[in-house]
Amino acid sequence: MSGLTLFYTAFTYIAIAIFLYGFLTRIWKYATTPSPLKIPLTPAPVQPAGAVYRIIQEVGFFKSLFYSNRIIWLAGYLFHLALAIVLIKHARFFFASTPVAFHWITTFEIWIGFIMLLPLLLLFLLRLVIDRTYYISIMMDYLILVLLMGIAVTGILTKYFVRTDIVSVKQFVMGLVQVRPEALPADPIFIIHFTLVMLLLIYFPFSKLMHAGGIFFSPTRNQVDDPRELRHETAWAAKG
Ligand code: HEM
Repeated sequence: MSGLTLFYTAFTYIAIAIFLYGFLTRIWKYATTPSPLKIPLTPAPVQPAGAVYRIIQEVGFFKSLFYSNRIIWLAGYLFHLALAIVLIKHARFFFASTPVAFHWITTFEIWIGFIMLLPLLLLFLLRLVIDRTYYISIMMDYLILVLLMGIAVTGILTKYFVRTDIVSVKQFVMGLVQVRPEALPADPIFIIHFTLVMLLLIYFPFSKLMHAGGIFFSPTRNQVDDPRELRHETAWAAKG
């Protein structure tokens, strides 16, 4: 096994470990952080089922973003939709045979890499040209977009312009999945694509990308508006 394969095998497992540990500890932190005050954003649901429906609307349709900014909503929604399709299409690298549930999505070509890249570009430009967003943007806001664009561009290059050997990519990925390391494909563009994905995994738990899990714990969205019907008492106050 070459030194590069050895390095990337170790790098991948370390990146996955950092991602899983970081993601789960942050979710644990969100779940165990007390929310002693009733602060649902009104008009808010008055039944728990309504709060669940509200979260579903946020996660499925980015509802509050829709009402606050249609352009950012369109770009953000398109990006997340494309990301989901891209990830489902990637399932074929991780399973010996593509899961039946994903067959339909692998049967048509919709230039999904471009549909993922263009909204990222737009979001990047909007941050620069709109004064209000420029003012509140920090370097990491731009760098995350650059990282995602880098992944999309190298993916597109690998797929349409400098075709990589998909068979050796699959062997390499399956080797990682089954913990019997296989040679890293000798394709620089693929190696950059893969490296950027690993960097994304490592950075994910420390970044605002944690909104992917954090949205479920947002008190302004998940609380029921019932302070007039129920006395809301936190566990520690009830004990005292
Ligand atoms: C271990 C993880 C990954 C591996 C091994 C991998 C590998 C590949 C390969 C081999 C291609 C070319 C596809 C083809 O020829 O059909 C590709 C395309 C692409 N990848 Fe990845 N990738 C990984 C993760 C990701 C992630 C996490 C993203 C997004 C954040 C991503 C975004 C893309 C995009 C946008 C394309 C081009 C569009 C398309 O599939 O139509 N990749 N990737």
